[in-house]
This record gives sequence, structure tokens and C-alpha cells, in this order.
Amino acid sequence: MNEPIRRIAITTGGGDAPGLNAVIRAAVLSAIQLGWEVFGIRKGYAGLLGEDTIIPLDPQAVRGITHLGGTILGTTNRGDPFSWPVHVSDGIITADRSDEVIRAFRRLGFDALIAIGGDGSLQIANELFKKGLPVVGVPKTIDNDLAATQVTFGFNTAVETATDALDKLHSTAESHERVFVVEVMGRHTGWIALHAGVSGTADVILLPEIPYDLKKVCEKIEMRYLTGRNFAIVVVAEGALPAGGSASYAEDAVAGRDKRYGGIADRLAHEIHRQTGRETRSLVLGHLQRGGSPSAWDRLIALRF
Ligand code: F6P
Repeated sequence: MNEPIRRIAITTGGGDAPGLNAVIRAAVLSAIQLGWEVFGIRKGYAGLLGEDTIIPLDPQAVRGITHLGGTILGTTNRGDPFSWPVHVSDGIITADRSDEVIRAFRRLGFDALIAIGGDGSLQIANELFKKGLPVVGVPKTIDNDLAATQVTFGFNTAVETATDALDKLHSTAESHERVFVVEVMGRHTGWIALHAGVSGTADVILLPEIPYDLKKVCEKIEMRYLTGRNFAIVVVAEGALPAGGSASYAEDAVAGRDKRYGGIADRLAHEIHRQTGRETRSLVLGHLQRGGSPSAWDRLIALRF
């Protein structure tokens, strides 16, 4: 028979997303009702590895945080205990510190872990589970790119933020008769681009799932000007790529799972200007999409998680 649960830990890992605090609060209040003790591991697994702290989470600690963006526990996307960055004299190497995580978890008397994370953090949680740690995963990411769940919290707020930006761009695009290329997040998926693009009535929406043809993009833009709509809004997912071409990456991107996208809006704006002669501007919404208060919808799904 399994031992009854008495003491649990919560961690938030990877990029932050609106709704993290709502999940933490809901989990803490539910656990306390069951008579369990709850602790927060700061900054992913750093708290378990002696590089940050472990904090008690009681009702007072989670009071008034549902509407706050970010995470009261802190987070990192450089916190994989299986590949932990270690500073040495001539640079940074990585070390597998997963056994230390498990030992610290047991030493502290935790019976289970709630890991709130996206694909990277939940893969790590799954590896820890395989090594014997009892884990419950909560699917978080603005990208909405996780398998085995229909939707992740954070996505709805990011779509609202991007849609609001598109609404605001319409008036300036129209006044100046310009083309605007707006880059939204999503990594290798186009969920944010598709949802914000449709609700913000973009003229062209480019997704990583459907490599684009620049000629068709320019034809569509020209058609708008020919029919008297003298501006155009193009929404491009950061991971979008031309047919037969490659995606754009941030200049400081390093190879591997964490390779960051960036630059597609600028690249596309130049190409559209070259081909159409239309005055074109680019805009990267970036981390704005991860910030701010979670939408009511994200709060509700976060509380249910
Ligand atoms: O996964 C969430 C996300 O915001 C992606 O949409 C984006 O590509 C990436 O994280 C950016 O990561 P960083 O926090 O390293 O800039």
C-alpha cells in the first residue's frame, strides 16, 4: 500500500505564463484543506540543489495572487537537473544533478511534487518520475504546444494581448497606408498567430505548420491596396518559415532544445518592401505576451488545475 500523502512540494519551471500564481494558490488551498503541508521550491529545482531556497506555502503566502502575472516561486529555463550548468574556469559545462534532486526531495520528507511547466519542464518532471519521484504535472505555456492536453493555461491571455496589439496597429497602419508585420511567440507552433490573427482580422497569417510563399503574401497585400484598403497587417509566428527555406533564430541562440527563434518579422518586412515598394514596418510583441494579469479564462482553468 502507498503511504498517505502529508507533505508536498510545488515547482514552476521554464518560461513564465500568466496563471502560474493562480495554480499555486489553488493547489496550496486544496492541499491544506486535505491536511497536507505545502512547500515551494524556488526557481525550478534550484531550491533543492542548495542554489536557492524552499519556502513554506500557507494561506497567507498565497493570499491575493490569483490576478498577478509571473510566479511567486521564480522560474528559469536553464534549470534542467539532468544537464545543470556548472561554471568552471574556462566556461560552462553541464552536470547530471538529478540524483541530488531526488535525495534532497526525500531528505525534506516530501511525498509528491506538483511540477508546473511547459514541454521542457514536464519532460524533466517525467524523467524524475521515472527515477521514482511521485509527480503531478500541470500544463503551462503561452504557446499551447503540449501534447496530452487540449489547452494550456497562459495561452488565452497571450492571445488577448496579441489581439489588443493588432487592434491598436490598425489605426496607425491605416493612417500611414503602411504594411505592418507583427511577430508573435509560439516556438514551432502557430497557435497564438492563428488565434490572434483571426480575432484581430489580420490580412495574412503565417504559421510554422504551413511554410509560406512570399509571392502569394505580396499578391494578397497588393490586392488590398488595389481594392482601396490602403494598409495591410501580417501576423507571423516566430517559427514561421518560407517554403524550401529555414526559420529565423535569435542571434545569440544556442543549438539544442532551447534554441530561440527571432527575426522573422524584420526579414519579412524587408522582403515585402522590396517586392511591393510599400512602406513596411515590423514589430515583435515578444515577452509582452507572457506578462500581465491572467485573463478570466486563464484564471478559471488555472484554478481548476
Ligand atoms: O515557450 C514560451 C516562450 O515564450 C516561447 O514562445 C518563446 O519562443 C520562448 O519562450 C522565449 O524564451 P526566453 O524566455 O528564453 O526568451
